[in-house]
Amino acid sequence: MPQYRRRRWREANALRLDLNGLLAGAVGGDGIAPEELGAFEPELLRVRDAIAARRAAGELSFTALPHEREPVRRVLEVAAAVQGQFDALVVLGIGGSALGIRALAGALATEGSALRIVVADSIDPETFGPLLAGLDLRRTLFNVVSKSGETAETMAQFMIVRDRLMHQLGAVDYKRHLVVTTDARHGSLRQIVNDEGFQQLVIPEGIDGRYSVLTAVGLFPAAAAGIDIEELLAGAASMDERGRAAPTPLRDPALALAGALWLLATRRQKRMLVLMAYCERLAATGDWFCQLWAESLGKSVELGDRTAVWGQTPIRLGPADQHSQLQLFVDGPPDKVVVFLRVDDHGAAVDVPATYQDLEGVGYLGGHSLGALLNAEQRATELALAKRGRPSATLTLPGVTAFTLGQLLFLLQMAAVDLAAIAGIDPFGQPGVEESRRLAFGLLGRPGFEASHDEVEGWLAQKDTRFIL
Ligand code: PA5
Repeated sequence: MPQYRRRRWREANALRLDLNGLLAGAVGGDGIAPEELGAFEPELLRVRDAIAARRAAGELSFTALPHEREPVRRVLEVAAAVQGQFDALVVLGIGGSALGIRALAGALATEGSALRIVVADSIDPETFGPLLAGLDLRRTLFNVVSKSGETAETMAQFMIVRDRLMHQLGAVDYKRHLVVTTDARHGSLRQIVNDEGFQQLVIPEGIDGRYSVLTAVGLFPAAAAGIDIEELLAGAASMDERGRAAPTPLRDPALALAGALWLLATRRQKRMLVLMAYCERLAATGDWFCQLWAESLGKSVELGDRTAVWGQTPIRLGPADQHSQLQLFVDGPPDKVVVFLRVDDHGAAVDVPATYQDLEGVGYLGGHSLGALLNAEQRATELALAKRGRPSATLTLPGVTAFTLGQLLFLLQMAAVDLAAIAGIDPFGQPGVEESRRLAFGLLGRPGFEASHDEVEGWLAQKDTRFIL
């Protein structure tokens, strides 16, 4: 029986959320009083009930992912079919079709992984060209990931790769090197798959890219690289169950975090959220989080005669930024709240040798592990911020494992959806991004987008040349 099925093990590996640093007792007037949080509980209860009702109605499809078996079986089947044939797996995707697998691979892939995962979300010719040139195509599998099946960057990459594979491997063999992950019915990529018969996986309906990490989008490359996706899903499921079983809204980690961040944003003007990960393996999770927070919560709503806008600017930092940006957060404008990611057990033990004992300025480092040094720096930063009245919360992972990462990803997704429900906005869709997609289609001559082409050309023509230097 896998360890994560044992209750004791799950409890020992549960994420901990410490909200003390957000409270007035820790940071003074810029913090929230416990009574203020308590008075907000009826609103959190409303949100909790509304979300439960939406889930019961079959909405919020991403919440069902940790509990579904059939898609996992299919992912494992395709992953098993490609086992041993390739050295590298290159994911062609962007945004939510890239950041999730980057988070999984960054945290969980190891040197000994079955496959080296490369996420190619750049169409810069100076990086994509050399990347392809450096690959042994005979030993490379490409996973093309696009929900819409029409994202210009991904489709351009796919067309280049397909062409090269065909030339190098022949018109029959090249297909073995492509796995396509896309919508079951819609989009040009779906049509291509149906016509050309590539190996394929489906992105379920109703799931935007930033909520797709636990679909085949994240799970297939992860499984192919040997990451334990069952444990990952078990972690997500345990966070889901923890939230749903919480006796009060403030005992549900996602809802409590969302409620506190809402109060800080709207009543204390903390419009920026800094996610500071004291663990390099969680850096890509920070990037994934930034997309989740920005695209889900940066929205405007029409309220009769006015437009209300909401959003909290996410910023991702790491410990090295103590030496570059912390100054701003401690002494600069008090418009930020920090969420620390802390890890109890950093895994690899690298100890500082007890040398230079006679030098007071460095001797004290001897005998400490680098993990202990990281954790001491996190605590010190937390307190330094608090002493200047700057609020922070700390999420602690007992270790970086598939189980703890699953919890973290699910918690953050739920917190985004909870916060959207409090703010009265839709966390799904990205209307602001669609506009630039439409204009780019026009510029590149896509049929049907002639008006967009003319709009960009007209806008360029009216620029005042006096201000172009
Ligand atoms: O979160 C989202 O939905 C977006 O960031 C998309 O993932 C991104 O735009 C890529 O879209 P697609 O998967 O359709 O290629």
